[in-house]
Amino acid sequence: MRAPARVEPRTLAPPERRLARVSGVERLGAYHFISAEDEQGPPDPRPGQFYMLAAHERWGGGADERPYLPRAFSHARARLASDGLALSFLLEAIGPGTERLGALAPGDQAWLVGPLGIGFRPPAAGARALLVGGGIGVAPLVIWEETLHAAGAQTATLLGFRNGSYAEAARLFAGEPALATDDGTGPGHHGLVTDLLEQHLAPGDEVYACGPVPMLEAVRQICAARSIPGQLALEAGMACGFGACFGCVVRTRHGYRRLCVDGPVVAAADLEEGWK
Ligand SMILES: Cc1cc2nc3c(=O)[nH]c(=O)nc-3n(C[C@H](O)[C@H](O)[C@H](O)COP(=O)(O)OP(=O)(O)OC[C@H]3O[C@@H](n4cnc5c(N)ncnc54)[C@H](O)[C@@H]3O)c2cc1C
Ligand code: FES
Repeated sequence: MRAPARVEPRTLAPPERRLARVSGVERLGAYHFISAEDEQGPPDPRPGQFYMLAAHERWGGGADERPYLPRAFSHARARLASDGLALSFLLEAIGPGTERLGALAPGDQAWLVGPLGIGFRPPAAGARALLVGGGIGVAPLVIWEETLHAAGAQTATLLGFRNGSYAEAARLFAGEPALATDDGTGPGHHGLVTDLLEQHLAPGDEVYACGPVPMLEAVRQICAARSIPGQLALEAGMACGFGACFGCVVRTRHGYRRLCVDGPVVAAADLEEGWK
C-alpha cells in the first residue's frame, strides 16, 4: 500500500559540500564535542536533521588508507553568530571516520553537506514532550530540548548511558534530565532508560527518542501499548545522504523508505515488529 504524499517541514541543503572551520573541541567523558563554523549554510537546520561530515585532510586515500565516504551526524547545537552558524556535534569514536573526526583540532577544516532529512515534528498544543535518549542518540535531543523550551513547551528528558563516563554527555542538557546507567556507575537509576520511560510516561505525553535499535524497539512497543504518539530518530549506514544509493532503507508499514530523505525521524506508529 502506498502512503499518501506528506509535505514535511524541512530545511533544504545547498547541493554542494562546503568547508567549515573547526572552532572548538572538547571531551565530554567518552565523547567528543566538536564545533564548526558553517558560514554559507542555511541558518535554520531543524532538530533531528543531520549533516554528512568529512575531515578536509587525512580522510583516507593516503599510502595505506582507504578513501572514506562522509559520515552522518545529527547536530546537537546550532547558534547563529555574526560570521554564520556555529554547529556542534557530539561524536563517539567507533571506527576510522569517527576517530579521524574526533582528532580534529581548532583551526582544522571539515567538509559538510546539510542539513539533510526530516527532523522532529512539534508536539500537539498542550502535550508534554518526553525526550528519551540512549548513548550517542542523545545528540539531536540536546537541540530539540532547547528548541522546545524556547517555544514554551513542557518537556521531560530521560537519558540512558553505558556507564558514568558516557553519562558526562548529560551536561549538555539545560534542565535536569533523569539518568540511568547500565552498570550503575553514573548518577540516577541502575538499569535501562526504558525503565525510566515506563515510570514517567503519562497520558497526553508525546515521546521523542533516539538511541540504539533495541532501545528504540522497546520505546516503540511501550508507545504502541499505551497509544502514545512517538517519533523515533533512526540510524542506518548512509553512503550518500540524499536519496541516491538506497543504502539506508528501513521497512515501514508503507513499504521501504530511505531514512536520509524520508527520515531519519519516523513516526513510531509507522514501524511494526521486525522493522530493524
Ligand atoms: C542520521 C544519523 C545521525 C547520526 N548522528 C550521529 C551523531 O550525532 N554522533 C555520532 O557519533 N554518530 C552519529 N551517527 C552514526 C555515525 O554516522 C557512525 O558512527 C559513523 O558513520 C561511523 O563511521 P566510522 O568510520 O567511525 O565507523 P565504521 O567503520 O563505518 O563503523 C564502525 C561500526 O559501526 C557500525 N555503523 C557505522 N555506521 C552506522 C550507522 N549509521 N548505524 C548503525 N551502525 C553503524 C558499522 O557497521 C561498524 O560495526 C549518525 C548516523 C546517522 C545515520
Ligand atoms: S544514504 Fe544514500 S539513499 Fe540514503
